Amino acid sequence: MSKEFEVPRSVEWEENHINILNQQKLPAETVFEHLYTKEDVYDAIVTLKVRGAPAIGITAAFGLALSAQAIETEEIDVFKQEVIRIKEYLNSARPTAVNLAWALDRLLQRIERAASVNAAKTDLVHEAIQIQIEDEETCRQIGQNALQLFKSGDRIMTICNAGSIATSRYGTALAPFYLAKKKNLDLHIYACETRPVLQGARLTTWELMQGGVDVTLITDNMAAHTMKEKQISAVIVGADRIARNGDTANKIGTLGLAVLAKHFHIPFFVAAPLSTFDVSTLDGSDIPIEERDPLEVKELNGVPIAPPDVQVFNPAFDVTPSHLISGIITEKGIITSNYAKEIDALFAESISQ
Ligand code: MRU
Repeated sequence: MSKEFEVPRSVEWEENHINILNQQKLPAETVFEHLYTKEDVYDAIVTLKVRGAPAIGITAAFGLALSAQAIETEEIDVFKQEVIRIKEYLNSARPTAVNLAWALDRLLQRIERAASVNAAKTDLVHEAIQIQIEDEETCRQIGQNALQLFKSGDRIMTICNAGSIATSRYGTALAPFYLAKKKNLDLHIYACETRPVLQGARLTTWELMQGGVDVTLITDNMAAHTMKEKQISAVIVGADRIARNGDTANKIGTLGLAVLAKHFHIPFFVAAPLSTFDVSTLDGSDIPIEERDPLEVKELNGVPIAPPDVQVFNPAFDVTPSHLISGIITEKGIITSNYAKEIDALFAESISQ
């Protein structure tokens, strides 16, 4: 628990297991679960017990470090081959959030020059823990940078959950609200429920209320009316993958909010760490979009809400073109236009550091 706000951590490294907050069960139950194997980790990511791009990356990194401890060989090359095999398995859990591949690649790089299997096993654990530590500071920095965009009294809309439990701590899109509260700045959030699996209704409202932040829940189809009637001053969302030209994949429904925001002349912001940028993807058309189980659409909590054999299209994400984005808030600052050039500059700068 943090002293600043009382939201449990979504994932923690323990001696011989990973401890996760089961986000499937929220808000009805606050249940923690132990993961022991790569299959446990894969399942937790696929079934959204752990979700949110940075939290997925951290959990997969812990999962790789944990399952590597059980590899029985003294041969470093054999060890690395097995680590790569586990990495590929975990990486296939969810295709859109690029933080997953980013975190796993970072672990692989860390053991590139390892002299022994024992040293590599220790290095993997250290690197995974380091990713989590860095993510907390990164999110705090994103929050600081985002705060300059808002003033007391603002009403801000969001979708899905890009909060503390989607990251190591603070969140991305929700980070400024925790920091604003500390500074007694009065910001109010309108959270879209986020069908089909309701991360907004179940998770965003829950964690903001735990953290003492003012929040109002709306259903997704109330967004346009709310923008108009409640004088929404900005929209802020997270991201799962940002292409080199700034096109941004985020939870399904984000694109709709961006289009509405343009109509109502409301600024539309994306908040994300550099680990969510995929500069090898030139634009949004190359971002893989995860399609999920039709049952997520046909049922609510196991109760049928549609004919059982109806055809369903269930994309988990959509892509907002960069021309609809007023600014991308990162830990290194805010970029507001000329995204391709600015993103290249951002990466040139962080590589040279
Ligand atoms: O399917 P989910 O719940 O993993 O989707 C999460 C989102 O779309 C978040 O906005 C994104 O991962 C950013 S989390 C800081």
